[in-house]
Amino acid sequence: MVYNIVLVGPPGVGKGTQGIRLKERYGIPIISTGDILRESVRIGSPLGKEAKSFMDKGALVPDEVVVDIVGERLKKKDCADGFILDGFPRTISQADALESLLEKQKKTITHVIIFDVSEEEVIRRLSGRRLCKKCGNAYHVIFNPPDNVGVCDKCGGQLYQRDDDNEETVLKRLKVYASQTSPLIEFYQDRGVLNKISGLGSIEEIFERITFVLEKRNDNSKDS
Ligand code: AP5
Ligand code: MG
Ligand code: ZN
Repeated sequence: MVYNIVLVGPPGVGKGTQGIRLKERYGIPIISTGDILRESVRIGSPLGKEAKSFMDKGALVPDEVVVDIVGERLKKKDCADGFILDGFPRTISQADALESLLEKQKKTITHVIIFDVSEEEVIRRLSGRRLCKKCGNAYHVIFNPPDNVGVCDKCGGQLYQRDDDNEETVLKRLKVYASQTSPLIEFYQDRGVLNKISGLGSIEEIFERITFVLEKRNDNSKDS
């Protein structure tokens, strides 16, 4: 079974947290447009300079920009046996572009996982989030603290707080999600690949829910 997965959900719901675990379980790469854009901002590339003003406001970077990034990334060899898209697509136009990109490679999205959680909960999660500078692993000062304050358990990297994790920008990101990204629910429902799961509970419980969905589908496909 090839897993071509899309993770959809509001900011702070746990896409990155679960994505890293899925990558480890299935040995397929995770492609996070947010991580790629932040890396471009960090190194000060032309892409980073263009993206920064949108990201700081909590707005979406233009569709053409992210579609190009993902198009290039999906051509790489490591995506041949599956991939996990985290935070892409985020608009109907991106979803259409993704379909045409995949069509050229004779592929389709096999599973869209959409996480459902309340606004209060994502605000709680984002206000305490810390990320590793080196490997990107996400922590939370209360819900998922590192063994040593400010230091990544996995690689010893330094932890930092994202520029867009302040209250004003988080509220803007939530609005953008509701208006521009939530129409994807219907889009993928129509294609029969949508799986809605509750994003409430421990990181392990949510991971169980996702793998249940992914592997149950696998069994069904063997029967048919
Ligand atoms: P992006 O980086 O994708 O941000 P986002 O969608 O806002 O999502 P986050 O990364 O904030 O949250 P997450 O769901 O990954 O949560 P996490 O696992 O870290 O995008 C940033 C910006 O880039 C956008 O605003 C836009 O400008 C631009 N951009 C990116 N993609 C784009 C695109 N396709 N088109 C246009 N623009 C684009 O978890 C959050 C916290 O909760 C952590 O602290 C974690 O430890 C904790 N946590 C996780 N799970 C649990 C749990 N079960 N219980 C308790 N705590 C938990
Ligand atoms: Mg993320
Ligand atoms: Zn690390």
